[in-house]
Amino acid sequence: MIDIHCHILPGIDDGSSSLEESLAMADIAVADGIRTIVATPHIKGEVHLPQFLQQQVMKLNEVLTKRNYPLQILVGADVSAMLPPQEIARYTINGSNYFLLEFPHSHLPKQASQMVFNMCMAGLRPIITHPERNPSIIREPELLFSLVDSGCLVQVTAGSLTGNFGADSRDCAGYLLKMGQVHFLASDAHSATHRRPVLSEGVSAAAAIIGDQAAQKLVTSNPAAVLSGRSLNG
Ligand SMILES: [Fe+2]
Repeated sequence: MIDIHCHILPGIDDGSSSLEESLAMADIAVADGIRTIVATPHIKGEVHLPQFLQQQVMKLNEVLTKRNYPLQILVGADVSAMLPPQEIARYTINGSNYFLLEFPHSHLPKQASQMVFNMCMAGLRPIITHPERNPSIIREPELLFSLVDSGCLVQVTAGSLTGNFGADSRDCAGYLLKMGQVHFLASDAHSATHRRPVLSEGVSAAAAIIGDQAAQKLVTSNPAAVLSGRSLNG
């Protein structure tokens, strides 16, 4: 499986706090059947340079290789919607035109459609992160449908489907799946203890709603297309 959203780089954001914790997260991911992780630190106002992130990914890969982990880390970012498109273009996933788009956790901005339109016009492919945890979308999921119509893809957090973020997020995630509005499941893991890099439980929960084959695609062929910059259907 491929996890396209994971805060596994040590000491960069509110994710892993140390190399030890990153390795503990890697242990959990490997045991769960994850073989590729996109490292996605938060990129907001205080920006880490893309070159710095690449170096950090390289360092972690070196340690993993030395210790024979069957796990590869690729570079990405969890990009704030407030960043201008020219800045976002520096923080895409594995050099593709896909990137993780994080809206404020409290609401969906009124100008979300316009923002997304501008990003698409700049040649970028936004992947909206965890809409099922956004109160505006929980109240009115159709807000998300119109963003998907404008060219966005959608990543649901695996733990939402198993109730880790409460009943509202679980129900919203299930509804979005049923309505065909979900393209990826990812862990959005922040640690080795409370928000862990585990996908399989979410995949099982998704399979109960949309069937096993469709659920598997959310963690295999769909993210694989992103990593190689292909369209999901191509
Ligand atoms: Fe995140």
